[in-house]
Amino acid sequence: MATLAPPSVANCVDPGAANWVRDHWSQIKDVSEARRVRYTTPPRVLIAVTGSVAAMKLPELIQELVRTCKIPRSHVAVVTTKHAQHFFTADDPRLASETDPIRVWTDEDEWQSWNQRGDSVVHIDLAKWADVLLVAPLDANTLAKWSQGLCDNLVSSVMRAWEVGDKPAIAAPAMNTRMWSHPLTAKQLAVLTHDLKVKIVVPVVKTLVCGDTGVGAMAHQPQIIDALLSELLGVTVNLSTTM
Ligand SMILES: Cc1cc2nc3c(=O)[nH]c(=O)nc-3n(C[C@H](O)[C@H](O)[C@H](O)COP(=O)(O)O)c2cc1C
Repeated sequence: MATLAPPSVANCVDPGAANWVRDHWSQIKDVSEARRVRYTTPPRVLIAVTGSVAAMKLPELIQELVRTCKIPRSHVAVVTTKHAQHFFTADDPRLASETDPIRVWTDEDEWQSWNQRGDSVVHIDLAKWADVLLVAPLDANTLAKWSQGLCDNLVSSVMRAWEVGDKPAIAAPAMNTRMWSHPLTAKQLAVLTHDLKVKIVVPVVKTLVCGDTGVGAMAHQPQIIDALLSELLGVTVNLSTTM
């Protein structure tokens, strides 16, 4: 297959460039170095999951990430809150493949891994390991904590240890319309966007699990994946129109 030129702001949205993104991670390194963001190629993606019902979509999101972006499963890890575990299980066959399992890190791992000085500190190791942080879904509680710098569990500790501005972070909020339209939501999102350099993938209108219809459902997966690639490359990627 012919190698296309690396994507630029001008050509990244066309289908040829989209294929190039999927097939040539190793050459994207040059693009990332040009924008002074360095990462492993393919990048190592840490997905943080919080206690929204949209956490049910995690296995599907990972499948899509691996299929569409050709990111190997060994370059994907999950970090979860306690409440998010009501909506998915680590032994879901799409996560727990015998040959290629996706590691799911929990609060228990943080404390079980540490006994004495010199032992692994999981939230620091994960923040160092990952090239990009994708929070999907981001619930109202963790949004509030992230914007204030609170770090009382593994997910929020990774957020607090994140290298702001040096490594991309993307968040897909999901919450009931009442929570989304609460005045604190906009204030906290502004902190994430401006101070913490987080790319927000805005929720969509839908009939929510509680029966209410309105904005608040997590954005669709192609939009989340586009946002992830766009942040990694520093250009607008629109693979969702070429899948
Ligand atoms: C069935 C169910 C669904 C929920 N869905 C959401 C949601 O979509 N968004 C949200 O912000 N909170 C939602 N919550 C509330 C959160 O789970 C709750 O605020 C929790 O404390 C979040 O903790 P975490 O941020 O540590 O995961 C839901 C709660 C329940 C019981």
